[in-house]
Amino acid sequence: MHCHVRWWTAPFAALEAEVPRQGAILEIGCGHALFSTYLALTSRDRQVRGVDIDADKIEQAGAAIARLAPGEADIAVEHRPSGDVPVRSGGWDAIVLVDVLYLLSPVARRELIGRCVDRLAPDGVLVVKEVDTSPRFKAAVAQFQELLATKVFRFTATDHDLHFPSADELRRLLVDAGLEVRTDRLDRGYFHPHCVVIGTRSLRTA
Ligand SMILES: C[S@@+](CC[C@H](N)C(=O)[O-])C[C@H]1O[C@@H](n2cnc3c(N)ncnc32)[C@H](O)[C@@H]1O
Repeated sequence: MHCHVRWWTAPFAALEAEVPRQGAILEIGCGHALFSTYLALTSRDRQVRGVDIDADKIEQAGAAIARLAPGEADIAVEHRPSGDVPVRSGGWDAIVLVDVLYLLSPVARRELIGRCVDRLAPDGVLVVKEVDTSPRFKAAVAQFQELLATKVFRFTATDHDLHFPSADELRRLLVDAGLEVRTDRLDRGYFHPHCVVIGTRSLRTA
């Protein structure tokens, strides 16, 4: 049920188009691995790894992945502690964060982004999707939903208070981390003000 609602309310198809079609892809905060699995199913040339602090979600994700046909998708998930970014020899071709950074304090967010940049391949890309803080009515509805999800129903695990960054704050965060950045809105036809910020680690910054 949760995954169905998530699928219909998040712009996963548009987001998938922002992720390289091949290479080693890491999703931090993958939850039930809905987007990670979609990435792996839409290109067999992606080797997708998902990590999350929520052991229950990772267990459920693992059970769903086990039902895929052999060779259908290259995907694995793992329970990891908060702030951890697995190291990969040669770096990750892409690191993806979908609706995770609002769950971190500004300091923890900056540290996590810095660690991600360190673990990217020389021409790797960091793809960050969040809900923007404008338009204000849409943002207020999305933020209220997230408060319910984290503090009341506890669908979403967090070890910080919620801080909702604007698309512009995210853009500056990635620029400060030394990436070449572009942003886009992905909210056409959606109720939530989805936005994406894409940072590339150019050879100059590698
Ligand atoms: C709103 S859910 C999004 C899940 C998934 N990315 C998606 O788009 O369906 C946020 C996820 O971030 C995870 N999370 C929260 N804090 C985290 C942290 N510090 N490190 C890794 N994952 C975290 C939560 O457990 C939850 O699964």
